[in-house]
Amino acid sequence: MAEQQYDYGMIGLGTMGRNLVYNMCDHGYSVAGFDKDAAQVTTFQNEAKGKTVFGTADLNEFIAALKSPRTILMLVPAGAVVDIVIDELKPLLSKYDMLIDCGNSHFTDTDKRLESLAKENLHFMGVGVSGGEDGARFGPSIMPGGTQQIYSRVGPMLEAISAKVNNEPCVTYLGPGSSGHYVKMVHNGIEYGLMQLISEAYHLLKEVGGLNNDELHEVFSKWNEGPLQSFLIEITATIFSQKDELTNNSLIDMILDGAKQKGTGKWTSQNAMDLGIPVPSIDVAVTAREISSFKEERASAQKKLNGPEQNVTTDKNELVKSLEQALLFSMITTYAQGMNLMQHASVELKYNLKLEDVARIWRGGCIIRATLLENIRTAYSKQPALANIMVDDYFANQLAQSQTGIRKIIQLATTTGIPMPVMMSSLSYYDSYRHGWLPANLIQAQRDYFGAHTYERTDRKGIFHTKWTQKQK
Ligand code: 6PG
Repeated sequence: MAEQQYDYGMIGLGTMGRNLVYNMCDHGYSVAGFDKDAAQVTTFQNEAKGKTVFGTADLNEFIAALKSPRTILMLVPAGAVVDIVIDELKPLLSKYDMLIDCGNSHFTDTDKRLESLAKENLHFMGVGVSGGEDGARFGPSIMPGGTQQIYSRVGPMLEAISAKVNNEPCVTYLGPGSSGHYVKMVHNGIEYGLMQLISEAYHLLKEVGGLNNDELHEVFSKWNEGPLQSFLIEITATIFSQKDELTNNSLIDMILDGAKQKGTGKWTSQNAMDLGIPVPSIDVAVTAREISSFKEERASAQKKLNGPEQNVTTDKNELVKSLEQALLFSMITTYAQGMNLMQHASVELKYNLKLEDVARIWRGGCIIRATLLENIRTAYSKQPALANIMVDDYFANQLAQSQTGIRKIIQLATTTGIPMPVMMSSLSYYDSYRHGWLPANLIQAQRDYFGAHTYERTDRKGIFHTKWTQKQK
């Protein structure tokens, strides 16, 4: 039995759960931890010596160790496990106890759980947590959704454990219902886009530029000192200098080129499609992971399918310079798509999101943290209802200045046959968005031709259908 009553409970003592507990302890909170795997509890007890914690694999003992009303965080795998845990907990809980799901749950699951737990007078929050193991330990970005009143019960603790940028915590109340998990989902969608963009840059630098891993390390380190400064660019630089313990080769060269995914990027695309909001860079990033997973098929297609003949000679410095611009351009447009999706979803799902707040809490702790987010925050603080960050003066100017680079890089990619699907989609998104006229009139004509789907006209109001001239037999 526990000797005292603890401030918080944590269900799930995997690395993320344990690290979040240690972070809470550092800020003066006492925490009881539960995991049904006794081995995890032992690891927890050994690691946490000297901290005010209690670990158990007995759910009754765990519940008895918590101060009332109880506040229990859950860090368990998203999906069915969350419901299993909730079902096991429910009979042991009392009115006004509170559950906080800190995993990557699908936002629609969060809405269902909120509704069913409210019927039992239990409080529930869906909270996105980003930053991986280090983030959990030393300061993640935290995206809470639920009622504001309930947030106030845990807000001070979340603020204490979150990352800080210029003394501002990377957490704030985001909105009602599943808004926290929605924002985390879009965070991950952007993450997929950025990771694929960086991988495409690597492909071109390696295969066309001929850069070795040491040079790649140098390039990414240098980029991290400029406008591309971000967590993902920083870790990429480090990755290129990591040696493999088994062979002493560069570790990157020993890793199989098939990307896995847990689904949050796909959910972003699926929901964007449902809402009719374009996020092509995210869609294509998901596709790129899928293509990569067909390793065997690609290996046999390589023997059959030809690429372009030309050998292109490139100046390494020029290539690196253009690619830096291309990455900046495509990263801006990828963030633009994610922010735009949240803006529309906020209306549709009644989240009332403040995009300035979202950009602010993404500046530190999370995987997509980047210098750019300070400018995104400024853009929304000036114009909260900004249609798209691409038309903000600062970003319009950045895009204008970096478009030469991305156009050169895409030309080079098509000439040499290097796939750069997300970079190409990012440029097309920009080029489509800046075109006052697009050829969709032809699509409307075709729809009306074969299916009498009607069309609108440019010169008068109304819905029109034409009996199109039939082809001569
Ligand atoms: C984060 C990460 C985290 C996780 C991804 C990985 O913000 O800390 O996004 O949530 O590492 O979900 O996702 P995939 O397995 O789909 O790449």
